[in-house]
Amino acid sequence: MSADDLGGGGFSFPVLDQPAEAPKKIPLTAFSTVTDRSGSAAKSPEAPVPITDKPARSKVPLEKGYSQVDWLKLSKSGADLNGLSGGSLRRDITLEEVKKHSTLEDAWMVLRGKVYNISPYLRFHPGGVPILMKAAGKDGTALFSKYHPWVNADALLEKCLVGLLAPAPEAGAEAQAKPASS
Ligand code: HEM
Repeated sequence: MSADDLGGGGFSFPVLDQPAEAPKKIPLTAFSTVTDRSGSAAKSPEAPVPITDKPARSKVPLEKGYSQVDWLKLSKSGADLNGLSGGSLRRDITLEEVKKHSTLEDAWMVLRGKVYNISPYLRFHPGGVPILMKAAGKDGTALFSKYHPWVNADALLEKCLVGLLAPAPEAGAEAQAKPASS
């Protein structure tokens, strides 16, 4: 069947004029939506100025064997990640006790009322060890929410859970204990 059979009588598809030369490639600038995260952007005087107060994203290269997949494998391996040797979770941990666990080998962190042993996770942390250590021995909830509120720490650190922070003493409990002075 030819085009004439369709009664088109000389129909042809419109074709756009071809450009005389190939279009010029526009180089990426600091204002491009794709940025070089290798650090050169930070050194460049043209570095984009953040327009929000959100922290700049800064993932670090993880060592071989410390990917998120490796972490999931370790979590499922049955290794003692919370340091309780299979014992039951605690419910009486005070901030004072958390403060005593602030070294690389023995780091605890509070996250939304839960106390985690973060030492086994440190080298798997996509943001790097030093920044995570800022929250060691402390309540890291605010820092965690500042950098990545979308991260599901409950799931990631499930096996690192040591227990719950002890409930804060009720306001006025001290006052009740002391007899009112007359
Ligand atoms: C122990 C609890 C924490 C867990 C489980 C955790 C987990 C993660 C995960 C999964 C990412 C990758 C996020 C993504 O790809 O979108 C990440 C990135 C990061 N985290 Fe954490 N984090 C924790 C605590 C913290 C704390 C306390 C800080 C700050 C002091 C922090 C700072 C960062 C930074 C700066 C990045 C890189 C952000 C980026 O450029 O994407 N993290 N973390």
